[in-house]
Amino acid sequence: MSETRTIVMLPGDGIGPEIVAATRQVLELLGSFEFIDHLIGGASIDQHGRALTDEVVETCRSADAVLLGAVGGPSWDAAVARDPGAPRPEQGLLGIRRELGLYANLRPVRPAAALIESSPLKPERIEGTDLLVVRELTGGIYFGDSGRSGETAHDDCSYSVPEIERIARVAFEAALQRAESRGSSPRVTSVDKANVLETSRLWRETVKRVAGEFPEVELDHMLVDNTAMQLVSRPTDFDVIVTENLFGDILSDEAAMLTGSLGMLPSASIGDDGTPGLFEPVHGSAPDIAGQGSANPLATMLSAAMLLRYGLGDGEAADRLERAVDAVLGSGLRTPDLATGAEDETPAGTEEVTAAVLAELAR
Ligand code: IPM
Ligand code: MG
Repeated sequence: MSETRTIVMLPGDGIGPEIVAATRQVLELLGSFEFIDHLIGGASIDQHGRALTDEVVETCRSADAVLLGAVGGPSWDAAVARDPGAPRPEQGLLGIRRELGLYANLRPVRPAAALIESSPLKPERIEGTDLLVVRELTGGIYFGDSGRSGETAHDDCSYSVPEIERIARVAFEAALQRAESRGSSPRVTSVDKANVLETSRLWRETVKRVAGEFPEVELDHMLVDNTAMQLVSRPTDFDVIVTENLFGDILSDEAAMLTGSLGMLPSASIGDDGTPGLFEPVHGSAPDIAGQGSANPLATMLSAAMLLRYGLGDGEAADRLERAVDAVLGSGLRTPDLATGAEDETPAGTEEVTAAVLAELAR
């Protein structure tokens, strides 16, 4: 990559600053970038009284890509408990997704060979898992009308046909791409709760219709409760899972455990062509271990690999970074979240893991 690309860094809260700083060192070895740092979430609330400022939105809009750490923490939760109208860190994350129109969230789940033993699930069950959760990210219950009246609260869930069509197309196209690179046959599982919810019935009808544009892709429909069960009982049977915002949030945390740790799962949030993508680890801000130097930076590094591949079109740099992460795991280095106590493991903190990835990249 010769020209300088602009990446906005939004470290956020908790372990966010540590893992984003570690990932920045890695990116510096992989290309020529201008980094612009900004606050989001609780850090922005402390400074500006809001979880997301217009300035940050505008800077992100004109950048090539955005890398985010995590948002949230107990002090802001406590402020909201005292005053329900107080700003919440999560508003920063939801706000940037909405403002940039990042309607598709891609969460690939593929356990690294070296981590098969770190999963709480039996190795023979997860071996060979390679799935992609495509989560709708700017609609549904997250963005519906909500409120309280006396003793009652409500959160509305609505979806429109165009919202469902565009996320379905992302899923079918991803399935085709994956099939091509793997030499497998493309399959999409659309997840809903069509036995109860009207939005789910519209979802199912619409996905079925869009499937007509992709005759090569096999489509099946699964209820979300059944999917939660199937994900742990036969994860290798899934290829692409497409689902609405809330179901995708829940199922992707569950799927993360197939990789051994929530600390390993990267994600990409993308919108229409020309919009910069936002790349972030799926895990949260882990306030309990913030500042201790023990955070696992690998999901953020793998998110940076997605940034290189999908955000900047540099698949080669992305491959190099993913190989370096695999090699470091293969060498036995383990942050506490990945440790199983096996003899060939070397306990490590953020710094050691980062140094090892840098050394791999420099080889
Ligand atoms: C995620 C997170 C967020 C979400 C929270 C922090 C608002 O859980 O990215 O999965 O629910 O989308
Ligand atoms: Mg989540």
